[in-house]
Amino acid sequence: MTETENKHDEIEALLAENRLFAPPTEFAASARVNSPEIYAEAAADLEGFWAKEAAQLDWFEPWHTVLDWQAPYAKWFDGGKINVSYNCLDRHVAAGRGDRVAFYWEGEPGDTRIITYKDLLEDVSRCANALKELGIQRGDVVAIYMPMIPELAVAMLACARIGAPHTVVFGGFSSASLSDRINDAHAKAVITADGGFRRGAPSGLKVNVDEALQTTPTIEKVLVVKRTGQDVDWVEGRDVWWHDLVPSQPADCPPEHMESEDMLYLLYTSGTTAKPKGILHTTGGYLTGVASTHRLVFDIKDDDVYWAAADIGWVTGHSYIVYGPLANGSTSVLYEGTPDYPAWDRWWDIVEKYKVTILYCAPTAIRAHMKQGPQFAQTHDLSSLRLLGSVGEPINPEAWIWYQKYIGQERCPVVDTWWQTETGMIMISPLPGLTVTKPGSATTPFPGIDADIFDHNGDPVETGGGYLVIKKPWPAMLRGIYGDPERYERTYWARFPGNYFPGDGARRDVDGYYWLMGRVDDVMNVSGHRLSTTEIESALVSHPAVAEAAVVGIPDDLTGEAIFSFVILKADVDGNGDLGAELRQHVGKVIGPIARPKSVMFTPDLPKTRSGKIMRRLLRDIAQNRPLGDTTTLADTSVVEAIRSSSAAASDDE
Ligand code: PRX
Repeated sequence: MTETENKHDEIEALLAENRLFAPPTEFAASARVNSPEIYAEAAADLEGFWAKEAAQLDWFEPWHTVLDWQAPYAKWFDGGKINVSYNCLDRHVAAGRGDRVAFYWEGEPGDTRIITYKDLLEDVSRCANALKELGIQRGDVVAIYMPMIPELAVAMLACARIGAPHTVVFGGFSSASLSDRINDAHAKAVITADGGFRRGAPSGLKVNVDEALQTTPTIEKVLVVKRTGQDVDWVEGRDVWWHDLVPSQPADCPPEHMESEDMLYLLYTSGTTAKPKGILHTTGGYLTGVASTHRLVFDIKDDDVYWAAADIGWVTGHSYIVYGPLANGSTSVLYEGTPDYPAWDRWWDIVEKYKVTILYCAPTAIRAHMKQGPQFAQTHDLSSLRLLGSVGEPINPEAWIWYQKYIGQERCPVVDTWWQTETGMIMISPLPGLTVTKPGSATTPFPGIDADIFDHNGDPVETGGGYLVIKKPWPAMLRGIYGDPERYERTYWARFPGNYFPGDGARRDVDGYYWLMGRVDDVMNVSGHRLSTTEIESALVSHPAVAEAAVVGIPDDLTGEAIFSFVILKADVDGNGDLGAELRQHVGKVIGPIARPKSVMFTPDLPKTRSGKIMRRLLRDIAQNRPLGDTTTLADTSVVEAIRSSSAAASDDE
């Protein structure tokens, strides 16, 4: 059976991508992993593999059981006692590495700070003591709602130090989203700032906190960093300035000895619909998973300057800006603002200035840069870069190639990393010194991760498309949805009992490589063929005029569903004439007539969540001229109007 002849219930795999990129010889020669035994070793003794990784951390007391698995509930390193902030800070300082830079921080207006491990340990200890003074004790939940300033990392680590789980709420969320999360988590305090800088202007945060707190009975204290200097309202007895309380605290605060399975944090994931889920992560296993994947996937060395250009408010920031890199004693860049301020070369300016060696970002950002053209990167010296990473969505092969060519200058391996808020750590990814990469494929599961692709009956699909599953527990896995075990079991474990179902479609090629195909909820059914959004979007993006594309299925009398596509053109392309028809034909040629969109609409923008994921649900509403459903997770509400007013450009010549 060929890949395209699957049973109709699976997702059909149509896109063939044949370009191969072997690790550059020099890179491979000095890489942390350059021989494949690690996969076999981990598969032969999964618990032994993770125990070895966990042993690289400092434990106050050893665990008695590596894994206790009562599906779907795992305990990792039970009996072990550990503190995350101790592992991220104290042990490096104790080893004589206190003068190493932990963060090169750059504010959007251009202000900078250099923070060493010793500085960070002292700041975290002071903040931890301040939290105690505010009445926060081990087990109390603290909400954090801040811009990308060093105090955000300090606040998280201070919570971890005293055993107070944090829940970081992304600074772009509204007051209503903040109060929902505070109430669900029963948070006792909020740490915030007066505001943050975004595209050159101060934008208020404290004002949203004040509004949120009208409906949050559990909050007792608000700790406020002065960042922008804008006017704020003040509630005496509740609100406390950071600069009045924190700097005067003792710079020493003994870390709590936490149980391995104590809660480290909650992170709410809204997805594109429904009530946000409080994803619960615990301590020892989580830190083991993120430290190990950070070290091996990014091939971290002592002289690296690592930059995850994401927001700490997302899981990428938790695992790969704060906990993973600090556990490994890395030097990182932390940037407050947007990539286009004051101009589209801001990122490349930062890479040049700090001699960044590893860059990790999202395909949505790569496509935005691609839309602007390579000239912004070309005016900067990017020769320090040696490795590139991608996360958050399927990366279209053409975006991958653009990234590899213009940013990596054909010198840097690209690691496309698949994972989720729920998985806590990278699950499917190349190891850059070992894996031959294929543009658009996240390649193979990380050592110790037992992934598979199932058909609708739960039988493995050797080659072809189906449902991605994880068959064995892993240390950084979520331990539940806070306060809702029934939803946890139903959402992730009911579809294929005993197996974790992340909700994504994927296909496996003849080499065993995984190609992520988007959320299974977005799969379209055209004339009985189940087609993934990702492949058709990638085919559109492979046309030289296209910067970004999104497709949805809309009801069709003839074919059941028909493909409706939204296309953002590159900055210098004019969408007049026959371009719509040309694009439809292009898709037909690249992946076959079945995948040819029925309609193409040119649009200046796409509706996205605040983490950059396309909201196809809203696009379905727009394509069918329906009133819009829930738009609360939409990053920019004006986008929808902009798309609707561009509907004249729709082409439909069949
Ligand atoms: O659909 C997958 C997509 O993003 C989802 C997880 O989103 P979130 O919890 O916000 O975490 C994002 C950062 C880890 C996944 O279910 N996704 C993430 N990375 C990739 C991806 N899809 C394809 N390829 C990826 N590399």
